[in-house]
Amino acid sequence: MSAEVIYGSELAQSLRDEMKEEVNGLRNKGIIPGLTVVLIGEDPASKSYVRGKQKASDYVGVDSELIELPESTTQEELLSLIDTLNNKDSVHGILVQLPLPAQIDEEVIIEAISPEKDVDGFHPISIGRMMTGKDTFYPCTPYGIIQMMKSKNISLEGKHAVVLGRSNIVGKPVGQLLLSENATVTYCHSRTKNMEQYIASADILIVAVGKAHFLNGDHIKEGAIVIDVGVNRIEDGSLTGDVDFDSAKEKASYITPVPKGVGPMTITMLMHNTIKSAKKTNG
Ligand code: GUN
Repeated sequence: MSAEVIYGSELAQSLRDEMKEEVNGLRNKGIIPGLTVVLIGEDPASKSYVRGKQKASDYVGVDSELIELPESTTQEELLSLIDTLNNKDSVHGILVQLPLPAQIDEEVIIEAISPEKDVDGFHPISIGRMMTGKDTFYPCTPYGIIQMMKSKNISLEGKHAVVLGRSNIVGKPVGQLLLSENATVTYCHSRTKNMEQYIASADILIVAVGKAHFLNGDHIKEGAIVIDVGVNRIEDGSLTGDVDFDSAKEKASYITPVPKGVGPMTITMLMHNTIKSAKKTNG
């Protein structure tokens, strides 16, 4: 079997086109979705992600403001800024780019953001709402992954989904969303024994371990759906995923590439969440 490739880049583009139209309609009614991105320090990867967010905002018509603060910013200063943004009506979404400098406690910052403006879906209230099936902002990468599978009409019900990785941003929430879609979910992580057995039995594999070519075609079941969340820079400077694409493609039924796979969907779901927030606060 040679897998069908799910290009997140193509789905992201068509969703962004739909959002652009929707935002146009909102703007005509005087509703201007607003996103504030806070970037602390000079991390090149963070700067590049933030540029992507600005570009997507400009495209769909979200009013996006970037606040850049020095590496030396204190937790109190950031909390005070978040308080201001929480109370500013034109701001529908607040995103504090992670990671943060060592003097700032990430959990304290995430909890300070109003859950009604938590377009990252990282606040414990957002996570609790997601776990109990309430309407909320879903974390962007997991939500994008579900949308990619749905775009191909892949049925998730009753499937064995194996999630490799248990981060708060990807692994844990994507398992939760798969569970909500009636999949049977197994989480594997660095302490899992006999991980190969779980991988080999997976109908759906979500690979988010952050190691280049952690998996290849020999590991997976014939016909498996393989979603590669890894973004690893290798010796020649290029980006590659956690999955050896060429060998896995020969055995999978669907597979996502890196780049042009999950990455573009993350920012697209951030746009979705920001627009959703604007619609909610404006009735
Ligand atoms: N750093 C890497 N990915 C993300 C993300 O999705 N949201 C935020 N806030 N920071 C990140």
